[in-house]
Amino acid sequence: MTDLTTTYMGKTIPSPVIVGSSGLTYSVKQLKVWQDAGAGACVLKSVFEEQILIEADHDLNEVHFHPEGADYFDVYVKEHHLSHYLDLVRDAKKEIEIPVIASINCVSASQWTEFAQRLEKAGADGLELNYFMMPSDPKMQEGINERTLFQIVRKILNEVKIPVSVKVSSYFSNLANTLDYLSRTGIAALVLFNRFYQPDIDIEKVDVKPASPFTTHRDITETLRWIALASEFAECDLCASTGVHDGEGVVKQILAGANAVQMVSAIYHDKAAALENTVRFTGEWMEEHKFATIDDFRGKLSRSGIKNPAFYERVQFMKHFGGR
Ligand SMILES: Cc1cc2nc3c(=O)[nH]c(=O)nc-3n(C[C@H](O)[C@H](O)[C@H](O)COP(=O)(O)O)c2cc1C
Repeated sequence: MTDLTTTYMGKTIPSPVIVGSSGLTYSVKQLKVWQDAGAGACVLKSVFEEQILIEADHDLNEVHFHPEGADYFDVYVKEHHLSHYLDLVRDAKKEIEIPVIASINCVSASQWTEFAQRLEKAGADGLELNYFMMPSDPKMQEGINERTLFQIVRKILNEVKIPVSVKVSSYFSNLANTLDYLSRTGIAALVLFNRFYQPDIDIEKVDVKPASPFTTHRDITETLRWIALASEFAECDLCASTGVHDGEGVVKQILAGANAVQMVSAIYHDKAAALENTVRFTGEWMEEHKFATIDDFRGKLSRSGIKNPAFYERVQFMKHFGGR
């Protein structure tokens, strides 16, 4: 018999498949459907730092934004009250058995951090910080991006006792060093990676347009590489996000060293069936390969688990693209 139970952020969860932060996790009704389909936990849709600051009557312009951004957030805040979010956490905790992780999308360590305590008080099992800074300013001094993130993490860890995870992008000047440092701050997990808004260009209208927010299973590779590399040094749990669309994706990420995975796009596409099939496949694969528990195969193909660690690095590139 295979056992899909595992631990993530200090909690025992019934399966390693977590529904990631998105519009899929914005009501108790939806959370129930994901729980019944085999999800191990759910990360609620994110609250924005700007949303918290506007409701607390802080001047956004003093913090970091263009006036047109502030206008947008003013409208957004009228439609998405923080009290609704706190009610969602409270109601979810009454009706859902799997862990419910709240999420905050943030870019600075300003006054918004007190809100984390309200989420803890409302009963959130954990808090995921989605650090959403695109370091696009060429004049930004080296290290500022990393220091801002470390400041946020330190401040939040002082505010709450619930486990905190950090969802990051790969846009750091030394990614391995940043992940290593972060993993030793006392956070419970690193989530690799978040996904920025993707731009596209309409060549007929000669204008910019948003690209699809959804991924495909081919988008798994960058996360797979970094889970395999980070599992060699990280002092916290690792959760793979981006491009996990099916059971194969789950198995690959756990073999690379992930404690859990998050899924979003595939569930938007196939609803509960995506989760059911993913969890079923993972169990069947474990049975076929004679792994009784998740820990029996976790990290077997991490950087330190394989004979040729360079597989995840440069040598393979030379082998494939350096030939005649
Ligand atoms: C419609 C949509 C809404 C999302 N909203 C959030 C959000 O509120 N907070 C967040 O951290 N990530 C959000 N994401 C990103 C997802 O959590 C996830 O990181 C991304 O979709 C990659 O995972 P996937 O390949 O399984 O889709 C959203 C994604 C989509 C498609």
